[in-house]
Amino acid sequence: MKTLPLFEKLHVRVPLFLAPMAGVTDMPFRKLCRTFGAEVTYSEFVSSEGIIRKNKKTLRFMSYEEDEHPFGIQLFGYQPHVMAEAAKFIQETINPDLIDLNFGCPVSKVVKNGAGSVLLKDLPLLRDIATAVCSAVTIPVTAKIRAGWDETHLVIPEIAPLLEESGIQLITLHPRTASMRYKGKADWTLIRRLKENTSLPVIGNGDIRSADDALSMIEQTACDGVMVGRGALGNPWLFHTIRSALTTGKIPKNPSDYEKISLMKKHFNEVVSFYGKDHAYKLFKKHFSWYTVGLPHGAHFRQKAMMSTSTGEMENIIDSYRTFLEKHEVCQ
Ligand SMILES: Cc1cc2nc3c(=O)[nH]c(=O)nc-3n(C[C@H](O)[C@H](O)[C@H](O)COP(=O)(O)O)c2cc1C
Repeated sequence: MKTLPLFEKLHVRVPLFLAPMAGVTDMPFRKLCRTFGAEVTYSEFVSSEGIIRKNKKTLRFMSYEEDEHPFGIQLFGYQPHVMAEAAKFIQETINPDLIDLNFGCPVSKVVKNGAGSVLLKDLPLLRDIATAVCSAVTIPVTAKIRAGWDETHLVIPEIAPLLEESGIQLITLHPRTASMRYKGKADWTLIRRLKENTSLPVIGNGDIRSADDALSMIEQTACDGVMVGRGALGNPWLFHTIRSALTTGKIPKNPSDYEKISLMKKHFNEVVSFYGKDHAYKLFKKHFSWYTVGLPHGAHFRQKAMMSTSTGEMENIIDSYRTFLEKHEVCQ
């Protein structure tokens, strides 16, 4: 893949991005994905209104550690001046490498306030927001978009010149419409169309579940990098697989089931130290489900984990599953 000035500035060697995911891409998960080769990671999306009100939870969503560069904060909102003020605060106080603007979230509590993907129906306002934020900060501002509000209102490629003029430096496209939510398939031909109509770097996103998917997306769309979301849930080593395919052409073996659960334990320990014992087991339940899908006796241990009522109990369940798999693998 080509080296682009923005990637050079950010020291990105292999343009492999972890998708921002609310409730998932907290510091423990981001750091884990980074150890497997994700190079650019984003915070969960944060509300511009929450930032200017100095909402404690919003401020916590933005915390990151020094070994997380390049790191971006993803911002959503609907008022240009509030978005600009929030972006300024982010640059001055949090100092990330990037700010990403969310123009794709289809969740009703976001769109009913006029933010996220509903802005794809009002391109002049979207442009005003992008321009206000780009003028308020000196760090690069990127935009993450969907293909349009619905199939009768596709914004590709007409959104491209508008984002360029606003000062946006990179576009990530998840080529589903907002009304599709996560149904159907991401239409990768739209990534190609966007790429053909802009000089900005384009990151392709949507339905990458394997190294072959990543290679096919790059081949079919000529995108400048790939972003992985759901494929990394309970499967952060996917970044290693894709990275290896991109850099050496070889696809490494997946970890064994025992290794997967050992990794889950490592992730769990990070969640405990980040959130504390009172909250860790609750927050980890979804990860437990993702890690154990398709594993032998996964349903049995999952059921136990879902019913756990303390962090100590969750830890015991993880340890006993790991011991079970160790014996199971020896017997194979
Ligand atoms: C649980 C979850 C939370 C998400 N939260 C965000 C978000 O905060 N901001 C955003 O731009 N996209 C968000 N997304 C969308 C992803 O970033 C990504 O665009 C989408 O999942 C398609 O990529 P994938 O097929 O690789 O998952 C979220 C997706 C999921 C599954």
